[in-house]
Amino acid sequence: MIKKIGILTSGGDAPGMNAAIMSVARCAAYNGIQLLGIKRGYNGLLGLSDNPDDDIQMLDIETVLDIADQRGTFLRTARCDEFKKPEVQRQCADNLRKLDVDALVVIGGDGSFQGAMHLCELGMPCVGIPGTIDNDLGFTESTLGYDTAVNVCVEAVRSIRATSRSHDRPAVVQVMGRNAGDIAMRTAMATGAEMVVVPEMEWDVDDYAKRLNELIAKGNTRATLVIGEHCFHRMKEFDWRKFLNDHGKTIYPGEAITSERLASILKRKCGGIEARATVIGYTQRGAQATAYDSAFAFEAGHLAVQLLNRGVTNQAIGMRHGRVFSMPFADALSMKKPFNRELYDLINTL
Ligand code: ADP
Ligand code: F6P
Repeated sequence: MIKKIGILTSGGDAPGMNAAIMSVARCAAYNGIQLLGIKRGYNGLLGLSDNPDDDIQMLDIETVLDIADQRGTFLRTARCDEFKKPEVQRQCADNLRKLDVDALVVIGGDGSFQGAMHLCELGMPCVGIPGTIDNDLGFTESTLGYDTAVNVCVEAVRSIRATSRSHDRPAVVQVMGRNAGDIAMRTAMATGAEMVVVPEMEWDVDDYAKRLNELIAKGNTRATLVIGEHCFHRMKEFDWRKFLNDHGKTIYPGEAITSERLASILKRKCGGIEARATVIGYTQRGAQATAYDSAFAFEAGHLAVQLLNRGVTNQAIGMRHGRVFSMPFADALSMKKPFNRELYDLINTL
């Protein structure tokens, strides 16, 4: 018999996390189960956050009634490196038991799910709701926040393309996604961007300069290049420091390549055209959740409580064919995300 469920958010915040907390709270209350909010991710379970007095809070319906349409995460979030140590995981499981928590709902990405899986191995039943804008989990079609992040990026790129058109200036737009290019790819497809660079694929700056030169020659003086933030790790060997220094930009040793520097390189390789860079950044994470993410959160929160109430644990919740489902953490985390090379080539060719 489950009497008390704990809930936490972990890793980067993602639109839809609050809707998921709200859904878990509604479903727990309906089933007569108490809900304990644990703030600041796994840090909150260990008293390691900067606000330990505020880290544990009972969540009744009244407390969370209005949070579904608030941005960010009501439970705060954090990364907790300490928690990767087995002895610290044991401490967390013990702390949960001391709080009379019978089971835990973890809202986060693959790292947070790894943590939840370890807690299960220590006898603490856990279920995971996939909350990350990156959409980097292979077992699910979508993660909470991904749809919202894409919509934010699409809106931004549409505005950037309007100004690009007004001024005949190409644009480099950097989106988030860590090691997954999903946000970049979907944004590029949805906006008609002529080029995309993702962390999954090695790329050569000269190929992109060639493509931009060809577009300019055809009269397109305002093309958009969408880049996934970690793509620079996959840039083919190119002495960009020397190149920029030789072309009038001072770069000091130790400085990293950025989207702004990429725009400078393209400008200098493409006849001096005024390419401009924009980093979309946290507007992707702090946005109001779309209807898709909010409805996904509703279903996922409900399923999380149902599973725990039925004694089904060690489960990652995902979305398949438009409906939520669950599978064991280990199976979910072992599934590699396929990369759609065909779409990547289409964006960069058409
Ligand atoms: P996400 O959950 O979005 O992937 P992170 O990778 O930053 O975000 O992980 C969030 C937190 O999950 C980490 O700070 C840590 O507390 C926990 N975590 C990550 N990887 C592991 C792991 N291998 N084992 C246990 N806990 C982990
Ligand atoms: O996982 C979400 C995410 O926004 C990634 O896209 C990004 O690489 C990372 O978090 C950034 O984390 P932080 O905001 O802690 O720098």
